[in-house]
Amino acid sequence: MVDGDLKLAVVGVGGWGKNHARVLSEFGCLAAVCDIDPARAKEIAAKHAAKPYGSIDEMLSAEQLDGCLVCTPTKTHLPVAKKIIERGIHAFVEKPLSFSSAECEEMIQLAERKKVILTAGYIERFNPAVSETKRLIEEKRYGQPVMIEFHRENRMPPNTKDVGIIFDTSVHDIDTAMFLFNSRPHVVFARAGRHTHSFEDFATIMLGFEGQKVAVIASNWLTPKKVRTFSAVCTDGIISGDFLTQEIRIDHAGETVVPHRPFEEPLTLELLNFIESVQGKAKLVVSAQEATNVTRVAEAALLSSNTGSPIYLNLK
Ligand SMILES: NC(=O)c1ccc[n+]([C@@H]2O[C@H](COP(=O)([O-])OP(=O)(O)OC[C@H]3O[C@@H](n4cnc5c(N)ncnc54)[C@H](O)[C@@H]3O)[C@@H](O)[C@H]2O)c1
Repeated sequence: MVDGDLKLAVVGVGGWGKNHARVLSEFGCLAAVCDIDPARAKEIAAKHAAKPYGSIDEMLSAEQLDGCLVCTPTKTHLPVAKKIIERGIHAFVEKPLSFSSAECEEMIQLAERKKVILTAGYIERFNPAVSETKRLIEEKRYGQPVMIEFHRENRMPPNTKDVGIIFDTSVHDIDTAMFLFNSRPHVVFARAGRHTHSFEDFATIMLGFEGQKVAVIASNWLTPKKVRTFSAVCTDGIISGDFLTQEIRIDHAGETVVPHRPFEEPLTLELLNFIESVQGKAKLVVSAQEATNVTRVAEAALLSSNTGSPIYLNLK
C-alpha cells in the first residue's frame, strides 16, 4: 500500500502491462485499465477490482487520474502518451520511450509545457544486481570500470512485431551501460542481421565512452535459452552479474566474493519510484532525456549497421 489517495491507470494490459496492473493493485492505487481489446481490459480489470475501458479517450474523460502507465506496442507510445500528457496527467511510458528520437523530443516538450512527469521503463536500473554494481563503482571499491560487456539472449518475444531487437532488447543494456559508466557514449559501431524476424534479430553494438572506455552489447533472439548477464571489468577487479538471478560475483585479489542480497522485484521498485515522484517524495530515477539518449544510441546502432560506419554522437 502506498500513502495517499492516488489514482493510476494502465493503458495496454497485454503480456507486460498486466504486471503493471498487478503491482499497482498491490499498492492500492489501480483505478482503471484500458486496452483496445475490450475483453482483455475486462479480464485484467476484474482481477484487480479496477474499471475496464476499451478506449483511452473514454477512460480519460471518465476518470480523474494522477498518472498513467503506457504499456502498448512501441510504435503507439507517442500517440497514446500525448493524449495522457495533454490532459496534465503524469506519464510512465514503457521502454523504449519511442523508436524515434524526434518523437521522444516531442513528448519531452509536451511534458515540460504541461508540467507533468515523464519517464520510461528502463527497469534494469531497479535490478538489485545493477544498483549494487553501481554502488560499488561509485565507491571505487575495485577501481574504475573500463569495459562492460552485456549478453541478452532468448527466443524472440511472441508479441514484439513492430520493432527489432535493438529497440526492443538492446536498449536495456544501452541504458545500463550509460548508467554504470555515468557517462554518454560519443561513438557507436554495430553489426546487426535478420534471421527469422521481420526486423533485425541479432545485434552486437560497441559504445565508445571517454577515456577509451567501452561497452559491448550482444543481443539475439536465436539462442534457445534465456541469458541476461553483464561483466564490468574494473581497474582492480571484475564485477559480473546476472539480471535474472540478481546475483553478482566479484573477482578481486585472487578471491571470488558473492555478496548475498534478498531478491526484489524490479517492477515493484520501478513503479514505486514513479508513484513517489508523482507524490513529490522521490527523485525520478530515469529522466526522459536519458531515455531519449538511449533511443538516439539505438538509432545510431541501426545506422551504423546499415552503413558499416561508426556513428559519432553529441548527446545532451
Ligand atoms: N520493461 C520491460 O522489461 C518490458 C518487457 C516487455 C515489454 N515491454 C514493453 O511494453 C510494451 C508492450 O509490450 P507487450 O509485450 O506487453 O505487448 P503486447 O502486445 O503483449 O501488449 C500490448 C497491449 O496493448 C494493447 N494496445 C495496443 N494499442 C493500444 C491502444 N492504442 N490503446 C490501448 N491498448 C492498446 C494491445 O491490445 C495489447 O493488449 C512495449 O513497449 C514493450 O517494449 C517492456
